[in-house]
Amino acid sequence: MSEIQRLKQVNESLKKKFKDKKLVFGSGFIDAKVVFVGEAPGPDEEKEGKPMSGHSEKILNQILRALGINKNKVYLTNVLKYNFAGKKIPTNKEIRSYVPFLKEEIKTINPRVVVTLGNIALTGIGLRQPLDNIHGRVFNFGSYELLPTFHPSHTLKNPEVKNLIQNDLAKLKQLLAKEKPQET
Ligand code: URA
Repeated sequence: MSEIQRLKQVNESLKKKFKDKKLVFGSGFIDAKVVFVGEAPGPDEEKEGKPMSGHSEKILNQILRALGINKNKVYLTNVLKYNFAGKKIPTNKEIRSYVPFLKEEIKTINPRVVVTLGNIALTGIGLRQPLDNIHGRVFNFGSYELLPTFHPSHTLKNPEVKNLIQNDLAKLKQLLAKEKPQET
């Protein structure tokens, strides 16, 4: 089965499991070497039908440009696939129910690096450590390297966060140039 077919299957399973929700699926380059994982779509993403639209897209694109990474060569997704703003805050149990789909999505893209944006993404990927302590550090996750950083939406409240994200992601270029780690 091709990667596109596998992703379609993941999305169909998501639709079946979360019938009552308006879902926004992952999107981007199928052979991406880097996958960005956010928290959940917001109103802009719901409107555009893809992750990281509006303000988050603008910030992310600025950062990618500064790093010399082509924005058309990355894959973007979220842990939660629906916009919970103005609705009930998702419980940990609910967040966990989306994780197997995220893992399958990552497995299908098979990137060299996964960048988590913010705390929910970090927890979703399975690292339970405070983001403040570990952002910008590289963790070997077997088939890929994990590089956690802050969420671009935080730059709205605190513009300094953009520098932090940029510093954290400075490692991305080196990681992308490295050989893919062996599966363990
Ligand atoms: N846009 C997304 O797609 N995800 C977020 O977490 C925030 C904004």
